[in-house]
Amino acid sequence: MDILHSVAEMHRFADRVHHSGRTIGFVPTMGFLHEGHVSLMHIARQHADVLVVSIFVNPTQFGPGEDFESYPRDFERDRRMVAAAGADCLYYPDANEMYPDGYQTMVCVRDVTRNLCGLSRPTHFEGVATVVTKLFNAVKPQCAVFGQKDFQQLVVIKRMVKDLNMDIDIIGAPIVREPDGIAMSSRNKYLGPAERQAARCLSRALDAVRARVQAGEHAAQALISLATDIISAEPLGRIDYIRVCDVETLRDVELLENDAVMAVAVFFEKARLIDNAVLHVNGQQS
Ligand code: PAF
Repeated sequence: MDILHSVAEMHRFADRVHHSGRTIGFVPTMGFLHEGHVSLMHIARQHADVLVVSIFVNPTQFGPGEDFESYPRDFERDRRMVAAAGADCLYYPDANEMYPDGYQTMVCVRDVTRNLCGLSRPTHFEGVATVVTKLFNAVKPQCAVFGQKDFQQLVVIKRMVKDLNMDIDIIGAPIVREPDGIAMSSRNKYLGPAERQAARCLSRALDAVRARVQAGEHAAQALISLATDIISAEPLGRIDYIRVCDVETLRDVELLENDAVMAVAVFFEKARLIDNAVLHVNGQQS
């Protein structure tokens, strides 16, 4: 597996792959990898000849007072996991390579970034859209895989790729959960044993909401109340938001008429966890 640090090296690698008639599948990450990331790599492998994974803790997507400095990092462990997943190349640029002196261009996706995480993290998605654009330009992939746990991020990236005519297939991958139901996340590391136990209320709430939809409830407020009751029963949790939105526009809906997503964000002391469930009006919930 090649480990590349500069855009120039990455371009040479990508051009070699393309000249040999092969395609690149790409998984961008911020490292501190877990089985959720590995599942994205396996999916990318199925869709392309060559797998490139990037690790870059992107400063521009963290707001003031957020966890950029303390974000967990373990390059040696990550390198082993990426190699074991069968990647051909690990792209590992540093902050100077990504944002050299004089850097001043940002990518702004408008409407779909306003609700949900955009309410409490107003600059987050500009940082995500910018770094993903730069990574796409460096790696030159034919497809890229993003987890559905970050549902809004996936919608933002799909919108950006469409609006900017990027010739890249964006693939959404199912949420991977721990045996206790908690969605896998690098930030789960921040949870102490009591918070870890308490954080199970997210998946419990989403399961209850799915069951309620399956039983015929279509009023968003009733579903939000149900999830709020379950999550607020955990004294260690502090709700940031619980909302039901259209899966494409991410605008709040009052009634489930088309597929919708219930998205939740809850603080457990240092950790802000997000999770979601796609709610299908007719048929199985996911
Ligand atoms: O989902 C993440 O890990 C990050 O937001 C991403 C897409 C790698 C951009 O920094």
